[in-house]
Amino acid sequence: MNIVGLAGEYRKTSKSGMLVNLALDIAASQGSDVIFWDLSEKPLPLVGEEGCWEHPNVKEFQSLISNADAVLMCSPEYHGTMSGVMKNTLDWMYDKHIGGKVVGLMSTLGGVTNANTLNHMRIALRWLHAWPVPEQLAIGHVKEAFDDQGQLVDGDLHDRLESLVHSVIETSKKLSV
Ligand SMILES: Cc1cc2nc3c(=O)[nH]c(=O)nc-3n(C[C@H](O)[C@H](O)[C@H](O)COP(=O)(O)O)c2cc1C
Repeated sequence: MNIVGLAGEYRKTSKSGMLVNLALDIAASQGSDVIFWDLSEKPLPLVGEEGCWEHPNVKEFQSLISNADAVLMCSPEYHGTMSGVMKNTLDWMYDKHIGGKVVGLMSTLGGVTNANTLNHMRIALRWLHAWPVPEQLAIGHVKEAFDDQGQLVDGDLHDRLESLVHSVIETSKKLSV
């Protein structure tokens, strides 16, 4: 199974990127082939900007999503919703790339945990005919959420991350029958 990881941030030190990579590590430990699309190395242009439609990163990104079985994605919450970077990333996908594929949703927040960003990503994915699983994970007060080894401090959150990844893999297997 091929699983692609996406984070709605550019920085190498992004907490959203750390969370996606933790999720990908869990998927890899269960036998999946995983790849993280790192926007700091391969940025996607803004949809609509000059030259965007022929941008080589866009073609590579769309081909990667087309060849994936499932996607794990995390956005930081900005002003009560997903980041502009995550929205722009979703805007580069169409039904023909991600339609029918299973998605696992995560969000990170500087403040108190809520599900707004997760719900908003879920709505966008509905328009793309993708299948976000019911399990999801929002991590509030994210600055304190990781230890020095990049692991989640709260064991319950780690268990929920494992359940989310497990659900993505099992649901994807069921849909591909
Ligand atoms: C423009 C902006 C808006 C933000 N809005 C919120 C918000 O509405 N709620 C919240 O809990 N945190 C908010 N934050 C904090 C981010 O959610 C937090 O820094 C982020 O989840 C960290 O993940 P990252 O390292 O991947 O960016 C905001 C941060 C920025 C830069």
